[in-house]
Amino acid sequence: MSLRSAVVTGLGHCLPERIVTNDDLAARLDTSDEWIRTRTGIRQRHIVDTGTSTSDLAVGAGRRALAAAGLTSVGVVIVATTTPDHPCPATAPVVATRLGLVEAPAFDVNAVCSGFLYALATADSMLTSGLYDTALVIGADIFSSFIDPDDRSTAFLFGDGAGAMVLRAGEPGEAGSVLAVELGSDGEMENLILVEDAKSPYTMQGQTVYRHAVARMASSTRSILERVGWSVADVDHFVGHQANQRILDAVAGRLKMDPACVVSNLATVGNTAAASIPIALSEASDEGRLRTGDRVVLAAFGGGATWGAAALTWP
Ligand code: UT7
Repeated sequence: MSLRSAVVTGLGHCLPERIVTNDDLAARLDTSDEWIRTRTGIRQRHIVDTGTSTSDLAVGAGRRALAAAGLTSVGVVIVATTTPDHPCPATAPVVATRLGLVEAPAFDVNAVCSGFLYALATADSMLTSGLYDTALVIGADIFSSFIDPDDRSTAFLFGDGAGAMVLRAGEPGEAGSVLAVELGSDGEMENLILVEDAKSPYTMQGQTVYRHAVARMASSTRSILERVGWSVADVDHFVGHQANQRILDAVAGRLKMDPACVVSNLATVGNTAAASIPIALSEASDEGRLRTGDRVVLAAFGGGATWGAAALTWP
């Protein structure tokens, strides 16, 4: 067992000001508020104005998380994103510099909607190994840059945003500790979610993604519970990737989990890809839903295909 654990010490999120409601979409697409709400639980999403980049949102979320943690420097910065400011270089170094984290090592992770869990696992291993003492992990995406706004099969699903978490090295078992993370991928499912090149829009095999998302998020959750020795009834909060309310409900149903544990901000934020888990955590924390010592499970499924789960206690 490691002599150190990674402990959550600050959260923050940043959403663009502009809200696009289902009715706004229905005004120009062959869709309706009723169809979108009943199929996904989404009522609105936040969308950036032209000129706002992923790094802008990441800096906003990172600044709030650093302030919450009371830190002005960190050992390492990791940005999970599928929509970097540029194909090259990575977005994390500019985010670190804009946050005043001078010369901190900084890099991107791309695991699409599972990206935050991949970044969290990376930070966790860097802190527990003793490589660094603090880390800033950000999930940030602007999927509106990918989506064909006229494609009614995908345009309603996504919103833009960023969420951030600061972690520090602490004592194993301390409240706020990351207890376990596990990750997986299957490149056979490459085509389920695809942006072929810069000129091609995002495509998604919705129903197949739906089935795999439910199956993988449920199996990863079962497996992480086994690793930390919790039963489903021990879980106080389940924060799944916010892709579709029906996916979250189906995962909870498979696990026989109390629906009251399921954290959801889909109605107001939609699917924000790598940002969805840290935004949901940050909002739940702001609302006072999470209490010290609460048992929290995170789970995600995304393009790749990639998936993962994590167990932690609340600081
Ligand atoms: O973040 C990770 C990636 N994404 C996901 O996790 C998303 C996973 N998939 C889903 O959440 C669901 O598959 C969707 C919400 C995307 C779609 O829901 P669905 O229940 O699978 O709908 P569908 O694609 O099977 O379409 C059902 C019907 C079709 O009409 P017919 O063929 O039954 O006449 C579609 O043409 O609904 C139609 N439809 C729409 N109707 C109104 C598709 N999109 C729309 C729309 N408005 N926006």
